[in-house]
Amino acid sequence: MSVCSGVIRLDRVTKAYEEAGKTRVVLREVSIEFGCGEFIVLLGKSGSGKSTLLNLIGGIDQPTSGDIYIDGHAINRMDDEARTLFRRKHIGFVFQAFNLIPTLTALENVMLPLELSGKSREARWRAQAMLEQVGLAHRMNAFPDRLSGGEQQRVAIARALVNDPLVVLADEPTGNLDYETGRAVLSLLDTLTRQAGKNLVMVTHSEEVIGLADRVFRLRDGVLVEDIQLEERLSVPQLAFG
Ligand SMILES: Nc1ncnc2c1ncn2[C@@H]1O[C@H](COP(=O)(O)OP(=O)(O)OP(=O)(O)O)[C@@H](O)[C@H]1O
Ligand SMILES: [Mg+2]
Repeated sequence: MSVCSGVIRLDRVTKAYEEAGKTRVVLREVSIEFGCGEFIVLLGKSGSGKSTLLNLIGGIDQPTSGDIYIDGHAINRMDDEARTLFRRKHIGFVFQAFNLIPTLTALENVMLPLELSGKSREARWRAQAMLEQVGLAHRMNAFPDRLSGGEQQRVAIARALVNDPLVVLADEPTGNLDYETGRAVLSLLDTLTRQAGKNLVMVTHSEEVIGLADRVFRLRDGVLVEDIQLEERLSVPQLAFG
């Protein structure tokens, strides 16, 4: 088995929307490769296409043209059913709004990705172990509305990681959290994905996160540019996690 898995490759990916008879190009022929185990941060102004790019990588959305390869598989060329199965098996998502299912307990939320991929028998113990890793062993049977924002996001992180995905995608995961809770959640995501050697692609408005990332990219006018100005990166205060 290859040590390196989960490479994300975009080959001339364009995404355009038709609106009121006009075409708006959000991504223009984006070609990039994110290596295995890398923590990638995507920066860009509101409306620059960050969520669009993440949703394309995650197979939630389809490009207008170009190809998206996850671990060598062109996900945009799969039919809807195959893409859904691939996504369940290999992609973990963490959203700004947590997106937990309100009628399921924390444990049941984390069990869901395993059950949906036909791993019902091991779902319970794996979900329990994952919730322990995010420090929520004592809250497994709580429903989401009884959990704090930080706890809900930790459940969402457990849900994203429980099926051992190739790639973890996080869209402003700290956007709804206060500063301290956000830092703790970021630290957890970083640690858990690094431990497991996963690719993490995170969209954020927080330039502070730059200190944790392996590579930083900025979307501007539909073009993805790597931010390699080390001086600039080093001038940003690094996050200190205690
Ligand atoms: N279904 C759609 N139809 C038309 N335009 C869309 C659609 N979805 C997104 N857009 C447009 O595409 C552009 C990029 O949107 P996207 O959500 O990717 O931005 P973003 O960088 O994630 O912004 P934010 O930081 O505010 O979340 C925006 O101008 C948005 O209005
Ligand atoms: Mg967005």
